[in-house]
Amino acid sequence: TRNEPRFRIGVSQCSDDEWRHQMNNEMLREALFYDGVEVDIRTVKDDNVRQIEDIRNFIEEGVDLLVVAPNEAAPITPVVEEAYDRGIPVIVFDRKILSDKYTAYIGADNYEIGKAIGRYVVNMLQGQGNVVEISGLTGSTPAMDRHQGFVSAISPYPGIKLLASEDAGWLRSEAGQKMDTLLAHFPQIDVVYAQNDRMAAGAYAVARQKGRAGEMRFIGTDALSGEGYGVEQVLKGELDATFIYPTGGDRVIQMAMDILNKRGFPRETILSTSVVDATNAQIMQMQTTHIATLDGKIETLNGKMNHYLDRYATQQVVLYGSLLV
Ligand code: FRU
Repeated sequence: TRNEPRFRIGVSQCSDDEWRHQMNNEMLREALFYDGVEVDIRTVKDDNVRQIEDIRNFIEEGVDLLVVAPNEAAPITPVVEEAYDRGIPVIVFDRKILSDKYTAYIGADNYEIGKAIGRYVVNMLQGQGNVVEISGLTGSTPAMDRHQGFVSAISPYPGIKLLASEDAGWLRSEAGQKMDTLLAHFPQIDVVYAQNDRMAAGAYAVARQKGRAGEMRFIGTDALSGEGYGVEQVLKGELDATFIYPTGGDRVIQMAMDILNKRGFPRETILSTSVVDATNAQIMQMQTTHIATLDGKIETLNGKMNHYLDRYATQQVVLYGSLLV
């Protein structure tokens, strides 16, 4: 019947933040389009041990497919391999593992994002200036790749100096603390490259508190819409630029259904990205607001449909009951 799932998809999220929430909503909404699919999302707060537990539980519960964003690559690799070896199809998304024992990968190319940001900075500084980097969790592949890409773009320009790169674990308050130290060490900083907008916000707040925000420009990544997030940070002038890091939750569920229904699928799906700065932030915000309205309508429609289906089901029972009398 309608209420028994044909497929159970287990999703293991490494972090709990707005980017993850948007992605989770996209997955749940996309799952509404398929019959008998249950999406079970479990989230940890940047904790390898607890994420390994979540994945092991999914394996033991016998999920039909596992979706995982590994917190740090090295510690999470073995348990993902274990799932794969037990015959559970695995979609790795956003962050990678250190093994090819997975069924498919979906995510943006973080090396290319770092490189695009590096080029943006070279342009902005016209080949001359001091940069500090506030890195995401250095054990996670987006942090490694964004750093490598960034360095590859700026290294041909000896006038651009990367003074320091500090690990702030993708977190706002840690970024603030690291920024405090960086400000104390370096009298001249021209650009702060924070590997996500949340850390950029933390770094900006501390620089402003110290009266130095005006001396430097801030660049982030993610470009989430909504109050207080990346696109708005650009509109407010706190960020010079950010880069879209697509959440792609709908794509993950589509891929899961292709795998479960034994249709063809690409092993690697690279989601595209783009810069958001003062030239396009306004239009980006208008479009995402519009899309959010449409998403809301889809959810309303689904709610109504379920309501009618339930009513139809009870009517049938009533009719059947009356025939028996
Ligand atoms: C969200 C997040 C993003 C970042 C991504 C990297 O949990 O921290 O801010 O771009 O993960 O994996």
